[in-house]
Amino acid sequence: MRKQVPGAAASLLVIGATSEIAVATVKEFIARYPKTSWQIHLLGRNDAALAQLAADFHCSWGHYDTSMTPEEQQACLPEGAIDYCLCAVGYLGPQFVAEHEPHEAALITTANYTGLLPILDAVALRMEAAGHGSLLVISSVAGERGRRSNYYYGAAKAALTAYLSGLRCRLLPHGVHVMTIKPGYVLTRMVAGRKLPPYISARPQTIARDIVTATAQRQPVLYTMWAWRFIMAFTRLIPERIFMHLRKF
Ligand SMILES: NC(=O)c1ccc[n+]([C@@H]2O[C@H](COP(=O)([O-])OP(=O)(O)OC[C@H]3O[C@@H](n4cnc5c(N)ncnc54)[C@H](OP(=O)(O)O)[C@@H]3O)[C@@H](O)[C@H]2O)c1
Repeated sequence: MRKQVPGAAASLLVIGATSEIAVATVKEFIARYPKTSWQIHLLGRNDAALAQLAADFHCSWGHYDTSMTPEEQQACLPEGAIDYCLCAVGYLGPQFVAEHEPHEAALITTANYTGLLPILDAVALRMEAAGHGSLLVISSVAGERGRRSNYYYGAAKAALTAYLSGLRCRLLPHGVHVMTIKPGYVLTRMVAGRKLPPYISARPQTIARDIVTATAQRQPVLYTMWAWRFIMAFTRLIPERIFMHLRKF
């Protein structure tokens, strides 16, 4: 596949812009391509935090929440072409609460999958019409196998991953790059307070570097850190009869 680097000017739309991974990735794009004049638009649900970020990045922002109607979501998009779109929306949720409260289970599903479809579809149509663009969406390795500790989140991420796979096939002939980003453990507030194995836990800055590199290479799927590709290949191979007894999972 041909390499894609931004030209003299490029637009970047960030959905879920208050995400620590998203902030690190915006900084990495700017640092990696200092000669590019970036036109950045941030979307998210925490208006105060967005206004602060927009001041830091000298860019525009708008309100976005996965509970908005499809019409409201479509209206969130900025005018003009979208060269790059990073979607970092995600909600791990308390698994134990979801097991007992259907409302919490629905919240996790909406935030990680169903609620994202209207805006992702709108971006996809815009890029398809323009004949170019990179749609970069953060899913998770959690979507590769249901685990007792986070299966509502994992199921929604699995659906997101399958959606992106199909979207990538559809948009390829139109010159649009769709990348599924599958982080393992990342040290952000999403997993704050959890004991994570240090050798396979990454800082958001590491994930950001991988995302920007893989975008230029037009990779379809990115595992980050890379070791997770092998960890998940092994995890997928474990027969269900054995997997269901493994307490670690
Ligand atoms: N951290 C990890 O270990 C890890 C591992 C694998 C995948 N991921 C994925 O990486 C992405 C970024 O996560 P992160 O680690 O950077 O965590 P984060 O800082 O908690 O970011 C999550 C983002 O999603 C937004 N969000 C949550 N629910 C939303 C909703 N209903 N509507 C709109 N926005 C919503 C949050 O907005 P607010 O700021 O308003 O809360 C925030 O911007 C997510 O997709 C996550 O699932 C993370």
